[in-house]
Amino acid sequence: MLIPTSEPVLKGNEKKYVLECFKSNWISANGPFTKKLEKKFAKFIGTKYAVCCSNGTSAIHLALIALGIGKGDEVIIPDFTIICSASMTILAGAKPVLVDVDKYWCIDPDKIEEKITPRTKAIMVVHMYGNPANMKKIMKIARKHKLFVIEDACAAHGAEVDGQKIGSIGDIGCFSFYASKNITSGEGGMVVTNKKEIADKVNLLKSHGFERPRFIHRIIGFNYRMTDIQSAIALAQLENIRHKISKRREIASYYIRLLKNRSEVEIHQEPPWGKSVFWMFGVIIKDSFGRTRDEIIELLWKKGIGTERFFLPMSEQPIFRNERDPRYPDIKGSFPVSDALGKQGLYIPSGLNLTKKEQKYIADTLMSLIKK
Ligand SMILES: Cc1ncc(COP(=O)(O)O)c(C=O)c1O
Repeated sequence: MLIPTSEPVLKGNEKKYVLECFKSNWISANGPFTKKLEKKFAKFIGTKYAVCCSNGTSAIHLALIALGIGKGDEVIIPDFTIICSASMTILAGAKPVLVDVDKYWCIDPDKIEEKITPRTKAIMVVHMYGNPANMKKIMKIARKHKLFVIEDACAAHGAEVDGQKIGSIGDIGCFSFYASKNITSGEGGMVVTNKKEIADKVNLLKSHGFERPRFIHRIIGFNYRMTDIQSAIALAQLENIRHKISKRREIASYYIRLLKNRSEVEIHQEPPWGKSVFWMFGVIIKDSFGRTRDEIIELLWKKGIGTERFFLPMSEQPIFRNERDPRYPDIKGSFPVSDALGKQGLYIPSGLNLTKKEQKYIADTLMSLIKK
């Protein structure tokens, strides 16, 4: 028996809609399901526009290029993040600049201003593991310094700050529909914005810059399209996103009850400024009586509990430590919070099929391994 970390749950209209694609024979991009999905997703997030793309990584790449970010520019990103915050910035031609995170695992607004230079063009916020970043403070800094704000909301569909959905607060928001996410299409992504010129640019960029008449190109673009079969699945998933969010929050509150008084661990906390969707339930091992975090993860897998380590911070990545390129981030700074998360963080199962009995087993097993 294995309790997966987070698995897709396809219990709504997914199959019905996919069969409709078969019937209509529209299995490539820009079909009726894509149009419906874009409309409904924009409505759910609260933006004027939503544009589907192939995954969360391409959404971030499209966002950077659509904002005109490129050679000679700097983009502020959190040190504790997935590689694509840095890699897409580099592939756009710009340089990522690292900032430590706060105790809710998102970029620390109090440490941003010291990293701003005349070359800074944007702040890329990553709403980590379902937690919303401190957007009020971040937007204030961005307005003061006239910077764009890109929200990487790939792991936080439906999280909120002051009742406003994340992804709709900055200039552009990016989402992923990867299999483990709160809503999925296997692979898939979405860019959201309130600005028509940005949405139009993303639409062009994601499809080779195809315009009318066809095959005449005025820009260099990509093929980052999402198929209608994927949109059909994502649309069915979106139909019951509210239920999925409440279920993740329910799972988190039970873990919090089970683990909150244990001094050996620090657990996933919702920030006071917003609503987390607890995409993952994170645990930081503070005192493990000699066992390393990675040994604990290995033992949990042996006991049938799917567990993953946290992201390795950008300042620790071999590519940035061992190789020199003027676009690579400067890793010399101090990132104490990020560093501790990368060394001691792990996440335990939080999938939608999880039962209370399984959660109790997971929490008891984790604590028994920490205690020896
Ligand atoms: C915060 C964050 N950003 C970006 C991505 C990339 O999304 P995708 O796997 O769809 O490219 C992920 C994926 O897990 C993520 O967690």
